[in-house]
Amino acid sequence: MQRQIFVTSALPNANGPIHLGHMLEHIQTDIWVRFLRMQGHSVVYVCADDAHGTATMIKAEQEDVPPTELVDAVRQQHLADFNGFLVEYDNYHSTHSEENRHYSELIFARLNEQGLIFTKNVEQLYDAEKGLFLADRFVIGNCPKCQTEGQYGDNCENCGATYNATELGNPKSIYSGSAPELRASEHYFFDLGQSTDFLRDWTRSGTVQPEIANKLSEWLDDELRPWDISRDAPYFGFTIPGTEDKYFYVWMDAPIGYMASLQNLCDQRDDLNFDTFWAPDSSAEVHHFIGKDIVNFHALFWPAVLSGAGFRTPSRIHTHGFVTVNGTKMSKSRGTFILAKRYLEHLNPEYLRYYYATKLSDSADDLDINLDDFVQRVNADLVGKIINIASRTAGFLVKHFDGELSSDLHDQPLMQQFTDAADRIADHFERGNFGKAMREITALADLANQYVAAHEPWNMIKDPDRKTDVQPVCSQAIQMFRALMIFLKPILPETARRAEEFLAVAPLQWADLKNDLAGHRINPFKPMLQRMEAKQVGQLVDASEPETAQEAKPEVAKADPTISIDDFNKIELRVARVISAEPVEGADKLLCLVLDVGDHQRQVFSGIKAAYSPEDLVGRLTVVVANLAPRKMRFGVSEGMVLAAGPGETDIFLLSPDSGATPGMVVK
Ligand code: 2FM
Ligand code: ZN
Repeated sequence: MQRQIFVTSALPNANGPIHLGHMLEHIQTDIWVRFLRMQGHSVVYVCADDAHGTATMIKAEQEDVPPTELVDAVRQQHLADFNGFLVEYDNYHSTHSEENRHYSELIFARLNEQGLIFTKNVEQLYDAEKGLFLADRFVIGNCPKCQTEGQYGDNCENCGATYNATELGNPKSIYSGSAPELRASEHYFFDLGQSTDFLRDWTRSGTVQPEIANKLSEWLDDELRPWDISRDAPYFGFTIPGTEDKYFYVWMDAPIGYMASLQNLCDQRDDLNFDTFWAPDSSAEVHHFIGKDIVNFHALFWPAVLSGAGFRTPSRIHTHGFVTVNGTKMSKSRGTFILAKRYLEHLNPEYLRYYYATKLSDSADDLDINLDDFVQRVNADLVGKIINIASRTAGFLVKHFDGELSSDLHDQPLMQQFTDAADRIADHFERGNFGKAMREITALADLANQYVAAHEPWNMIKDPDRKTDVQPVCSQAIQMFRALMIFLKPILPETARRAEEFLAVAPLQWADLKNDLAGHRINPFKPMLQRMEAKQVGQLVDASEPETAQEAKPEVAKADPTISIDDFNKIELRVARVISAEPVEGADKLLCLVLDVGDHQRQVFSGIKAAYSPEDLVGRLTVVVANLAPRKMRFGVSEGMVLAAGPGETDIFLLSPDSGATPGMVVK
């Protein structure tokens, strides 16, 4: 029976780059989707960028571009990274979209009608220096449950507790490092507690892995507290209908982005209908792939919101663990915080797809990339054992038999072992046990290699008595190779495409295992996948060391307001003369200044456009922080910072030395 299946990977944040941790999930999902399609099921796979929230707003502010422009640019880069790893979505949309606004408003209205929304005045942490209420992720302090230090304001990485940021011990704003103050404002809440019985049943009905259900029951055994779904201005997101300064919390509209992406796709395709997947009585399946850090959002809030709003709930949440490299958390200083883009500059994406597949299971255990093991497995197992079967045997068929395969199988029982394994392998794929599938596939490859080695077609061809067996033996090897390529196609789509070309067959499907290639003519063998050079991995690690990628967790700014004299002495201030000043295209607040600093000139971007006409600055003396590390901005590199006073916008006053100072003088 053909299944209708809607599949998603978690929506990456629009404020950071894609790294190998994201890639685990998207490769995992893509393999699962490709497998189901090969089985003849109808699968729709979508994703999107998770655009909203304070982090995006702040990042856009830092880069001096409107948030919409930032999220568009980041989305393009994310999509390019995913495509580079051969992840094939049917649609990659954005949560900052009209479809998402529509469904967010609809769901909110329906929850409201059901009496599931209420408002309450809450005291919230406010960064008075920065002038904004602090999103939970932007306060760091001690977990109220287990007291672990350095935890975010929404949940604890150590014990998994969820809480409000106000409950943190010793809180600090990550923006200014100051201790936030409490301010009251009205918030909207989703009354999660009303869904307790529903969630207890739902989480125990096969929708999550058993260990996840156990984890969830820790929350479900307690009273479920209302979920705060609004945030105050300034915020980048959708305003809550009927308000002007209240926004949907990013985690409210993020999963709704799954629906929005589907709706956007349905609007482009006549054969798809949103209700097929989301109507309350839908017989289709809905599968979300996520990391274990966001289980509560997907397995508590999301199903409760959906059921409250009259939509069907997900069939299954597939939760994976974190990626470690050489046994430890990815680290910039060790060069193991590897960006997807950087990986693709050095290595073939199928190496990683293969390696992840060998290690993935249906558990949420962490997955380690051991770099030596990575090279070894790709070269020895994938290229050495599997691809090699075709390269060792195809030449004889092409050279001596015009590429034609025998009409009979040489070793039927051996071939039978391949076809018998198909159901077991399919079952492993279906359950997400890709590692188990890979072990079966590698064991079959071993059998195929033993078979070729035992018959030695390279010797047979020279022996008049055995020469007649060369064609059947090599044909059998090619048939076994084809079976292996069918099994591997969800993991290695590009290699499979080359194999299809070599085998001169239509795109391989799982059902092709039932028929054989008797009498079929193949093409000459061309290399399908190269061995990996260990030095390529070394180069990738070297290239990843100075990565400017944002770490998963930003450092909290130092709270101590004083600096030592040594700290002060580190700052090199110099007199500079403005040689030219130009507005920067695409930036609202920046001027590009070229400064004479005595012995050379340098370019500095400065956010003083609202206060000065560029022509008034030319020729002026000012003071520049001369030893600031160059900062790469969207418009170019900024090599320093000019000093100015004032609250901002038009009230900015550039500092100037008294007359007599000359460019290059050190300010002491
Ligand atoms: O944790 C994250 O990176 C979130 N952006 C995932 C969102 S998944 C879904 F809810 F949109
Ligand atoms: Zn804790």
